Amino acid sequence: MRTLALLAALALPAAAQAPLPEALLRPGVDVHSAAHRGGPTVKHLDLDLKVDFATHRLGGSATWALAAAPKAPTILNLDGRDLEIQTVTTSRDGKAWRRAAFQVVPVSKALGQRIEVKVAKGHRHVRLAYRTSDHAGGLQWLEPAQTAGKRHPFLFTQAQAIQARSFVPCQDGPSVRITFTARFRTPKELRALMAADFDRHAPRNGDYRFHLDQPVPSYLLAFAVGDLEFQSLGTRTGVWAEPSMLAKSAKELEDTEAMVKATEALYGPYAWGRYDLLMLPPSFPFGGMENPKLTFATPTILAGDKSLVSLVAHELAHSWSGNLVTNATWRDFWLNEGFTTYVERRILEAVYGRKMAEMEAVLGAQDLRGDVAKMAPLHRPLLPDMGEDDPDDAYSRIPYEKGALLLRRLEEAYGRPAFDAWLNRWFQDHALRSVHTADFLTHVRKHLLSQAPEKAPDLAAWLTEGTIPADAPRPESPAFAAVEAQVQRWSKGDGQPLEPGQPAGYDMDSPKRLIDPTGWSTQEWMHFLRALPDLQPTPMAALDKAFHLTDTGNAEIAHEWLLKCIRAGYEPAWPRLERYLVEIGRRKLIVPLYRELVKTPEGLARAKAIYAKARPGYHPMAQGTVDGVLGVK
Ligand code: BES
Ligand code: ZN
Repeated sequence: MRTLALLAALALPAAAQAPLPEALLRPGVDVHSAAHRGGPTVKHLDLDLKVDFATHRLGGSATWALAAAPKAPTILNLDGRDLEIQTVTTSRDGKAWRRAAFQVVPVSKALGQRIEVKVAKGHRHVRLAYRTSDHAGGLQWLEPAQTAGKRHPFLFTQAQAIQARSFVPCQDGPSVRITFTARFRTPKELRALMAADFDRHAPRNGDYRFHLDQPVPSYLLAFAVGDLEFQSLGTRTGVWAEPSMLAKSAKELEDTEAMVKATEALYGPYAWGRYDLLMLPPSFPFGGMENPKLTFATPTILAGDKSLVSLVAHELAHSWSGNLVTNATWRDFWLNEGFTTYVERRILEAVYGRKMAEMEAVLGAQDLRGDVAKMAPLHRPLLPDMGEDDPDDAYSRIPYEKGALLLRRLEEAYGRPAFDAWLNRWFQDHALRSVHTADFLTHVRKHLLSQAPEKAPDLAAWLTEGTIPADAPRPESPAFAAVEAQVQRWSKGDGQPLEPGQPAGYDMDSPKRLIDPTGWSTQEWMHFLRALPDLQPTPMAALDKAFHLTDTGNAEIAHEWLLKCIRAGYEPAWPRLERYLVEIGRRKLIVPLYRELVKTPEGLARAKAIYAKARPGYHPMAQGTVDGVLGVK
């Protein structure tokens, strides 16, 4: 017996490291989509929708082609959220249609409804005539006043993670990939755009057609309607924006083509043809969304000095990690965002140099520590326990930054050449497929760790523990160390009172004499503000007078400054705080400010007063999050 076991152990391939728990090696089930219940899988969508700004509804039809004609009568399981399904018809050949029975079954608040359609033997095509509700979670309808131009309304979608089902009845999970064609009818003075192939030069006539021939998951379905114009950035890159934003956007994004080239040099050809960006109005709840061929982006990255274009590197990186190789379930989200955050920093390093990449990595590590302290223990592991809850409830920097640190840990252990070769292979081996964490484990063990099993990190701990592993790399930035030295110098002071007649306090000194921010980047300013101790209003005023922080036009610096202002009770910043929270709807920038406000009774009152004005302009996802912070609704 003994010798047999020993022989068996010796016979294991070289790739075998410390055994991984069985549960990690089993692909998980996508519990967030009705498709996991079985039945046919959809393969192609033909979408035909009319966009009605008066009622805030989309109406028309979604026609699905199944992967195969059913060999026996069956039930097609689709996801929906508050859709009004009018009729369902099915067809063998896509020409002759007949009515089909269907039922809409409530599942849960998080998941919406399941649409069960009876499909006859041999019927490969299923058409649902429907309209969306006037509060679809994946749509934001903007009044003209909420746009840059103030003259036309605007509509955009945000499908990730499980909101596509609020505007298309679909198998709304990341492991079902579909191709599509689409037609949108809109008011004729507006242009519809879709994250897909289309004729950029088509006239503005209110009738627009799109198609995408590479299969993508439903969370990448995306379109927008507004007063939109195009400006080229390079041979295959460009930007869409409202006319008044176009020139500024193009200037800010002028390095986009260089980023595409840099990423190709690292990870192989860009697979999607064009890479364009769409600048949305400031209520867009995210920084960016990697919709295929057309990244949707917040205008809060328009700092005027290209200092916030790491967002472009990030969304572009998703063209490999995410859109080409897709997390199979939302539990595997780190396979999208951790890989993307790692690749983002490699792009930054290639285009802007190591200093920039490392500053971003340090800021990311700071965010990670903050979220590990804040998130529920359940959500702290890379592979969290989210059950059937809305994946959005688990949203944090953890999959991004802990995931990126794990890849960096592997890079440092095996060296860049070997690691890069493995990552290239990962993308190639899984292109246009959806992957589980189990696939990652098998692949990395076979193709990277096997080269030196003794160097392998404890992957089970990295994936399942709620802490930052002790062997996690610690990004360091000499530039930030220099910033910290200046904070130190100022907080020690030079013994001079801030104002005549006032006592000399340790941090009461005139900042201009002791802090020299000449040449600081946005990232150095952010680090400076994070590194400051909590201050009283008087030194805050001194800083403000010296550096005009309340008036900064940089949304990230303003965010860090306003956080300090709330903590300090620095009243001169209140009007700016209100404007900021009313004008911007990007969750990452507004939610921490509300969280800080609600810590004191006066702050809570201020937050509620501001939110009463701001809420109507927020996206449903931002409304949901802020409602939770303020305990309203
Ligand atoms: N895919 C995400 C946005 C997302 C994730 C939307 C989950 C809905 C659910 C996108 O790529 C992203 O990560 N955006 C970041 C920007 C980035 C620079 C880290 C954001 O919006 O903050
Ligand atoms: Zn991302």
